[in-house]
Amino acid sequence: MKKEITIEYQELASAAELEADDKRLLDEAERITSASHSPYSGFHVGAAVMLGNGEILSAANQENEAFPSGLCAERSVLFYTFSKFPDVPITAIAIVAKRGDRLTDEPTRPCAACIQVMLDAENRAGKPVKIILGSAGKIEVINSVHDLLPFAFNNLK
Ligand code: THU
Repeated sequence: MKKEITIEYQELASAAELEADDKRLLDEAERITSASHSPYSGFHVGAAVMLGNGEILSAANQENEAFPSGLCAERSVLFYTFSKFPDVPITAIAIVAKRGDRLTDEPTRPCAACIQVMLDAENRAGKPVKIILGSAGKIEVINSVHDLLPFAFNNLK
């Protein structure tokens, strides 16, 4: 039997089309790219999460001389959030990247390892986590992490 999976997501022409909270989250993701330590790749990623209580936390990618033993921006902020606020649901995550001081022309999509951790945030919250991917041009909004990883590893459950 042949089966098919389709995902729906939104493409916006600019950040001006975002809802106010999503715009605030994306702005914070962009702001925190300044904390990126990325002398090896030159790729400065920022990620910001919105909590159910309205609080925003953010982090940037951190590289290390023993490259690639660093950590992506998304997992940096997610692991910190899980540690500091283990019981507060995450409702959204915004991701953006710069090369030098210029935003990328295309949205930066999270790597597979980060998506798996984002899925954990969604499972812990028991509700979809919205993903907002910024760039100098278009913005992509994905309504649920599950949409990015429909065949997720879940055999420990
Ligand atoms: N990186 C992130 O922080 N997030 C992603 O989703 C993709 C990649 C980082 C890892 C590394 O420091 C640099 O970007 C280049 O891969």
